[in-house]
This record gives sequence, structure tokens and C-alpha cells, in this order.
Amino acid sequence: MAKTAIGIDIGGTGIKGAIVDVKNGTLVGDRVRYETPAGGHPQDIAVVVAKVVRDLKPARATLPVGVCFPAVVQHGRTMSAANVSQEWIGLDADGLFEETLQRHVHVLNDADAAGVAEMKFGAGKKRKGLVLMTTLGTGIGTALFINGELVPNAELGHLEIDGVDYETKASFSAKERENLDWNQWAERLQKYYGTLEKLFSPDLIIVGGGISKQWEEFLPKLKLNAEILPAQKRNNAGILGAAALAWKHSDD
Ligand code: BGC
Repeated sequence: MAKTAIGIDIGGTGIKGAIVDVKNGTLVGDRVRYETPAGGHPQDIAVVVAKVVRDLKPARATLPVGVCFPAVVQHGRTMSAANVSQEWIGLDADGLFEETLQRHVHVLNDADAAGVAEMKFGAGKKRKGLVLMTTLGTGIGTALFINGELVPNAELGHLEIDGVDYETKASFSAKERENLDWNQWAERLQKYYGTLEKLFSPDLIIVGGGISKQWEEFLPKLKLNAEILPAQKRNNAGILGAAALAWKHSDD
């Protein structure tokens, strides 16, 4: 029997989900997407997550669900809220979704999920040593892996450089907000990745987020010692990683 789980990715603009074959990292059937409700309140988001699961028509009531979310997630509780409603801080997110969905749910940080997908199925496959996953979107998400093992909740998007929280300068939304051209954005990315490299000496840096499909416009401009590669799973990485970890947890 195929090993399947549901993966759901909650973002600032959209909530998307799919059934995932967690053995080979592919989507089984179509992806479902809804707009994130304005304000991002927990109850409103839970309603949309339930709609996503209903639309996916999972064959088994026991199929585990992985949900990734843009916040620190410790033992099923969302502990921060950088670009989402403050009501998430300290909330039992596992409990909220389990009650709504009546299924086993595993909630985790969005960048951790994307990193797991890249390490299992994408740019980081079979890579040992210290791998640093980054996602360039509304904020900057980061995930650390040592010999393929996730060290959860690295919040290196908020690294302070020149006295500012640097995701406000180097995220993709900063590029758009300030109308930066590729060169101007690359200068900021150079500063960001250069600082990370100085602090962590990673063996590999992976760059994800939707904009990574245009990696040729900015990655070749960066001068780093570490190898730096575009992510392969891009927009589906969160879904794939969330499903893979939900499966792993339900199997333990
Ligand atoms: C949040 C992280 C999240 C990242 C990407 C940051 O602002 O603090 O938890 O992973 O954005 O969504």
C-alpha cells in the first residue's frame, strides 16, 4: 500500500493542501488552495483547513495530517507570530486542528517543513554535514539540518544586521515593497547569507520560496564559500514536508 498523508501549508496569502505519497515525495491528485482569511485568526484558519481536507476527499479517516505554519512551533503549540495574528502565540495548534478535523494532526514551522522536503526529495537529498535551508517570501524562513536531522525552529530570518531585523530588508516582500532590482536585492542577500556563513559555516545553503524559480537572476551574483543551490520543490515544499513528518510521527 502507498504510504500517504495529507500536507497543508498555511501562508500569509494562501492555504494549500494535497495528499502526498511520502515515500517518493509526489502529490497524489490535485492540490487545493483557498485564500487565507483576512486577519489570520485561528478559528477562521481552522475552518479553511477543514475545507481543504474535505475537498481532498481522503479515502481513509485515519490518514495523518501535517500542517505547516509561519511561526515557532514547540510541541504542537505556536509560540510566535511574526507575520500572522498575535492570537497564535501560545495556542495549542495541534489541539485546535485535531478538534476541527477529528484526525491526528502534526503542526510544524513552515521553513522546517520546506527543509524536510528538500532534504528528503530535493536539493539536499543525501547531503551530510550542516545544511541551511532558507525560504524567501513574506518573511525569511530558515531550517537547520545536521547530517540530515532537523534542528527545529531556527529563526534566523530575524537575524539582526545593521541594527535591523533583516527579514524586513532581504525577504522577497522587501524586494517588492521597495521596488528593488535584482542587483539591489542581491546586495542585501549577500549581506544576509554572508553573515549566516560567518556564524554557522554551513556546507550547503538551499534557497527556496516561490521566487527561487527565478534563481538565475540573483543566486549567481552571490559570493560565498558554501555551496548555494535553488530549492527543487518550491511551492510544494511545505506540503510535502508537513505530510512526510505527519506520517513519521503517526508511525512512531
Ligand atoms: C517567522 C518564521 C517563518 C518565516 C517564513 C518568519 O517571520 O518568524 O517562523 O518560518 O517567517 O514564513
